Amino acid sequence: MGNIKFVKENKEIIAADGANLRQKALENGIDIYKLWGKMMNCGGYGQCGTCIVEIIEGRENLSPPTQAENRFLKKKPANYRLACQTVVNGPVSVVTKPE
Ligand code: FES
Repeated sequence: MGNIKFVKENKEIIAADGANLRQKALENGIDIYKLWGKMMNCGGYGQCGTCIVEIIEGRENLSPPTQAENRFLKKKPANYRLACQTVVNGPVSVVTKPE
């Protein structure tokens, strides 16, 4: 079990191991999409690259980056993830809509 802390929103939620980061954010009313992503996101299939979040603590508690992330995040800092591709297995701190 791990807490997911959404830093900008100042909200901490409890997640079971194996929880999907995008799903947990949406379930808890955390907005992870910028305008374009809100309208055009792929629904969590790793195809749009709009669900980018920054992990400021607990990167080691997440699943390893997927192929989709390697593709979309090639030029981004190493602590950026696609929320829909990220499985949470322990405490993490997340910044939504980085940049
Ligand atoms: S929601 Fe489309 S890549 Fe994550």
